[in-house]
Amino acid sequence: MNATSTRTKPKKSARLENLPPYGFAIIGKQIADLKAAGKDVIRLDIGSPDMPPPDHVIETMTRSIHNPNNHSYGSYTGDPAFRKAIAGYYQRRFGVELDPNTEVLPLIGSKEGIVNMALAYLDRGDASLVPDVNYPAYSMGTIMAGGEIIELPLDPDDNYRPRFDLIKGDLSKAELLWVNYPNNPTAATADLALYEEMIDFCREHGVLLCSDNPYAEVVYDGYRAPSALQVAGAKDYAVEFMSLSKTYNMAGWRLGACVGNREAIANLLVVKSNIDSGHFKAVYDAGSAALNDTPDSWLDERNAIYQRRRDKMMAVLPEIGLSAKTPKGSLYLWAKVADGDDQKYVSDTLAQALVALTPGSMYGKAGRGFVRLSVGIEDKRLDEALTRLKEWYKAR
Ligand SMILES: Cc1ncc(COP(=O)(O)O)c(C=O)c1O
Repeated sequence: MNATSTRTKPKKSARLENLPPYGFAIIGKQIADLKAAGKDVIRLDIGSPDMPPPDHVIETMTRSIHNPNNHSYGSYTGDPAFRKAIAGYYQRRFGVELDPNTEVLPLIGSKEGIVNMALAYLDRGDASLVPDVNYPAYSMGTIMAGGEIIELPLDPDDNYRPRFDLIKGDLSKAELLWVNYPNNPTAATADLALYEEMIDFCREHGVLLCSDNPYAEVVYDGYRAPSALQVAGAKDYAVEFMSLSKTYNMAGWRLGACVGNREAIANLLVVKSNIDSGHFKAVYDAGSAALNDTPDSWLDERNAIYQRRRDKMMAVLPEIGLSAKTPKGSLYLWAKVADGDDQKYVSDTLAQALVALTPGSMYGKAGRGFVRLSVGIEDKRLDEALTRLKEWYKAR
C-alpha cells in the first residue's frame, strides 16, 4: 500500500506563486462587480480595436470554413501561404527580405510567441532585459520561464528612450532584450537610429533583440513606424513579433508571427511544437487575405477614425486633471495625473464616473503618476465617457 499523505489538495507550482496578479484581471473583476450591480461602465482601459476587420477578410474566412479539407491538423510551422504573405508584407512595407520557410513562424497571437520565446531562451539564472515601463507579457513570460528581470531604464523626457548606460544588473546573464515601438503603454515611437543602437547593444552583449511591433500600422499624422529588421545585419541579432490584432482589427482571431533570426525561430518552434499544433486553416486564409489584399486606404481610413478620437481626448485632458504628449502611434494616450496618484485617479473614475482607465503603475514603477486611455472605443461611448469625466472632475 502507498504511504498516506498529509496533503489535502495538490499544490500549485512555484512558477505560479512567483507570478504577480495580471493587472487587467484585477480591473476586470472590479468592472464585472459594477456591471453585476447594474452599472453602465465605459471602458477606456482596454487596448482592443472596436471596429471589425475588412469585409474581404471575413468573406475569406467564411469560404474557408466551408471547405471540408480545412478542418484537420496543419503543420507546426503554420500555413505556407500565410508565411509567404507575411514575407510579402515585410518586403512591401519595410523592404526587408524574409525566407518564408526559415525566417517566419506563425503564432496564435503575438502574446503566445512572446511568452514561449522566454521558455526557449531562459533557464534559472538567466535574465531578460525589460523596460520600466512595459507590456506585462515580457516580465510574466520571463518569470514563468524561471528567469530574472533586469530593468532597462527609460528616459521619460526623451520620448521614453532606453538608457542602456543606466542598466544596473549583471549583463552577462541577459539573453533577451524586449522593446516595443509604437509603445504600449507610453505611445512612444522609435526611429531607425534607435533600433541601430539596440542592435549594437545586442551584438556587444550577445543578446537577442525581441522587437514587439504590433502597432506598426496604428499611426497618425503621416508617421510611418519602422521595423527593427530594417537595420543592416539586424537578422543576426533580432526577431520581430508582428500581429494582425491591431493592424487589421483582428484581435479575437489570434494571429501573428515571429520573424527574423532563423536560429531563434527554430528554437521557438521547438517550444511551440510541444505546446500547440498551429492554427485553424480558415484563420490562416483570412490572415493571408488581410496581408495580401487590404488596400493601404483601409488602414488610412481606420487610423483617421482613431486620430479623430485621439484629438477629441487630447482636447479634454486639461479639463480632467491630465496632460499628455500627442501620440504618433499606438492605441493609447499616456497621460500624467496632475496630483500624481494614478491608482486613486483610476479607482475614483471607475467608482464615481463609471469610466475605466488603466493605472500606469500596472506597467512598472516608472508608470506611477500616469494613466493610460485607449482610443479603441466607439465614438458615441467615447463622447459619453468624456462628458462623465468632465462632470466628475468638476464636482470633486
Ligand atoms: C505591446 C503589445 N504586444 C503584444 C500584444 C499582444 O498582441 P496579440 O493580440 O498579437 O497577442 C499586445 C496587446 O495588447 C501589446 O500591446
